[in-house]
Amino acid sequence: MNKKRILSGIQPTGIAHIGNYVGAIKNWVSLTERYDCLFFIADLHAMTIEYEPSAYFEGILTTARTLIACGLTPDRCTLFAQSHVPGHTDLAWIFNCLTPLGDLERMTQFKDKADQHRENINAGLLTYPALMAADILLYKAEVVPVGDDQVQHLELTRRTARRFNNRFGDTFPEPMWELSITPRILGTDGQAKMSKSLNNYIGILEPAETIWEKLRTAATDPQRIRKKDPGDPDLCNLFTIHKSFTPPELLPQIARQCRGAEIGCIECKKMLHENMMKELGPIQERAAALEKKPDEVLEVLKTGAQRCEKIAAGVMDEVRKKTGLR
Ligand code: TYM
Repeated sequence: MNKKRILSGIQPTGIAHIGNYVGAIKNWVSLTERYDCLFFIADLHAMTIEYEPSAYFEGILTTARTLIACGLTPDRCTLFAQSHVPGHTDLAWIFNCLTPLGDLERMTQFKDKADQHRENINAGLLTYPALMAADILLYKAEVVPVGDDQVQHLELTRRTARRFNNRFGDTFPEPMWELSITPRILGTDGQAKMSKSLNNYIGILEPAETIWEKLRTAATDPQRIRKKDPGDPDLCNLFTIHKSFTPPELLPQIARQCRGAEIGCIECKKMLHENMMKELGPIQERAAALEKKPDEVLEVLKTGAQRCEKIAAGVMDEVRKKTGLR
């Protein structure tokens, strides 16, 4: 029986952080057994904000190394860079012509990014979700594992598939998003979503000491002011992170000890740091080893793009015929 196809992507700006890891990447690895998995580096999406061209390609390679080191190896999935498969932009143009301007202007991410980058509110920032719909539908992916900040884009992707099918005949599935157990991680400030641009992140590849320093000073349950106050794990971002790194059978005990003020935040953070490093340590070692083998990483991306181009060519052929271009 053919496996269902899933697809997801990550932008190559800066280093991947543990929000990316527990919200998406770790989930991607766990899905590789059940699905035909395509994962990509969204290098075209990341051009919508200001960037340094001379460092851009290195960022793409670092992201590829990180993903492979996390377990997205070529025997488990297809990994590629978005710009290596021209079908993404071909289909995005067709979707641009189907997407009402109002739908794009309503996107929370567009409003947030336009607010953060007032000096560079470019058209790509606005039409970003049409490219994202193309990324997914170019492969007729049925499931898209993401963090909860991407759900609005997935809703638009479903509407795009429906619009295309109504206008040109049944072609695309309406893909569903799939969230991890921790779909939204706040930053170390405990205020905003952990993100590269807000500098409130813990990087997957950061040294253990840097990670400890960031955890040590990270915000916890905002209602726990003094050490002896009972905490509420349900309000604590660090307890959410625990859920992803600490063995599940230990979580009720940590929650109980926190509620009863039997352990303070520092003890809780130490346990978290230890469990995080058990998982991140080997990833960091594999990433360091891959840094010495850039050709191997390039080969993974090249082979991935070759496979994707074949799938994309079939779908684009169908799209061109149905839309009247051929
Ligand atoms: P990006 O690069 O911002 O993030 C990659 C993945 O990490 C998740 N994520 C988080 N999850 C939990 N807590 C957080 N603080 C957190 N920050 C990020 C994101 O939800 C995402 O799943 N638009 C996408 C890239 C993309 C894409 C696609 C994804 C382009 N085309 C097609 C899926 C399908 C983005 O900017 O992700």
